[in-house]
Amino acid sequence: MKLLDQVSREFSGYNILESARRLYDRKPLQCSLYVTDRCNLDCSYCTEYDNSQPHPSLSDLKKWVDKIRELGTMRIALVGGEPLTHPDIVELVRYCREVGFATSLTTNGFLLTKAKLQALEEAGLQVMQISVDRMTPSPITKKTFKTILPKLDYFKDSKVSLHITGVLCHDTLPESTAVLETGLARGIPTEVRLVHADPTSFYRVQRGSPEALKNFIEWMIVRKRGGEKIHTNEAVLDYQLSLLNGTPTDWTCMAGYKLFFVSAQGKFWECSMVKTEKHIMDITLDDLFANYRKKPCQAGCGVYCAVSTSLLVENPAKVVGKEIVARAKRVPALMRSAFAPRAPEVAAEPKGSTAVNGSSQSAPAAKSDESLVGSAKH
Ligand SMILES: C[S@@+](CC[C@H](N)C(=O)[O-])C[C@H]1O[C@@H](n2cnc3c(N)ncnc32)[C@H](O)[C@@H]1O
Ligand code: SF4
Ligand code: SF4
Repeated sequence: MKLLDQVSREFSGYNILESARRLYDRKPLQCSLYVTDRCNLDCSYCTEYDNSQPHPSLSDLKKWVDKIRELGTMRIALVGGEPLTHPDIVELVRYCREVGFATSLTTNGFLLTKAKLQALEEAGLQVMQISVDRMTPSPITKKTFKTILPKLDYFKDSKVSLHITGVLCHDTLPESTAVLETGLARGIPTEVRLVHADPTSFYRVQRGSPEALKNFIEWMIVRKRGGEKIHTNEAVLDYQLSLLNGTPTDWTCMAGYKLFFVSAQGKFWECSMVKTEKHIMDITLDDLFANYRKKPCQAGCGVYCAVSTSLLVENPAKVVGKEIVARAKRVPALMRSAFAPRAPEVAAEPKGSTAVNGSSQSAPAAKSDESLVGSAKH
């Protein structure tokens, strides 16, 4: 890939002109749409799946997508349950793109095949977030690199940008460093984030020693400052530290306003924790704006996409500024690799070490409308 291409990829997430309007007007930036409640796994920490529910129909999903777009939303994150269990997921992605959404999809990756990725790419999917918690399965989570490593090859020439996200808790902590290193070594923007409680504030799994968790997050901050592709912004890492330290962060939650969720029954939810019985089809911009307020559930909130968007909207210059500095640190490495003498052709890389997103040295291939400081993923 040409040097200029690589450098511009480093900053392509800053489609700030597009996103900037949403930072200052009253319309929403992003919506997470539950395309199904159904899931093929049963991670112990998760309260977001329900196999007693049928998949919503494609025609209902399309109606909701139209409405979400009419509200002015720019980005849609397809979540679940497990989105790849929905039989019409490719058509849904195509529709989201047709109506103008920047579109991402979060998956456990178990049902991902090369053909499915190609179909999603052809439908216009821009970002796929694969959840990977450990290197090998445990009783708590089966989402591991053991399953995902062989699938990284699929992304080698794909236009779909791959991100990896893991959950940090007592069970995963001993392997979290390996998860992060495995992703970063392959040029994949990777993030590990603190497990959150369920809507009743109950932790379904052991959180782990606060000191060890803090050390891990501090280490991610150091790596991030060094220019590595830690796929979250420093403000959210600082926020997680403040949760562990018990020191409150002053912020105003924008959930239900700048970002919101739509359930697999079409219900409007402020976030994955705060649910309402209102239907998305009845929601107005005034309803959204009414949610622009500090919320009683802010203390200890673990809905990091809401924290990230809220901090960004509150102080864009600070959040974006730090991100730009971190990314700028990658440019010298790109220059070095571009001008280094070409190594002779050698045997293929070991299986699973495939570079993705353009190159193992380059930035995520964020596509138009996809702002990296507050990605549309959940
Ligand atoms: C609910 S899942 C839905 C998509 C898909 N099934 C998956 O696992 O990627 C979305 C994301 O939420 C994360 N998640 C679920 N429960 C969590 C919890 N209690 N704390 C932190 N992250 C959690 C998952 O690991 C995943 O990255
Ligand atoms: S985290 Fe994702 S894969 Fe795991 S049970 Fe929940 S919805 Fe399913
Ligand atoms: S503070 Fe957290 S839990 Fe409460 S509404 Fe906002 S995002 Fe949801």
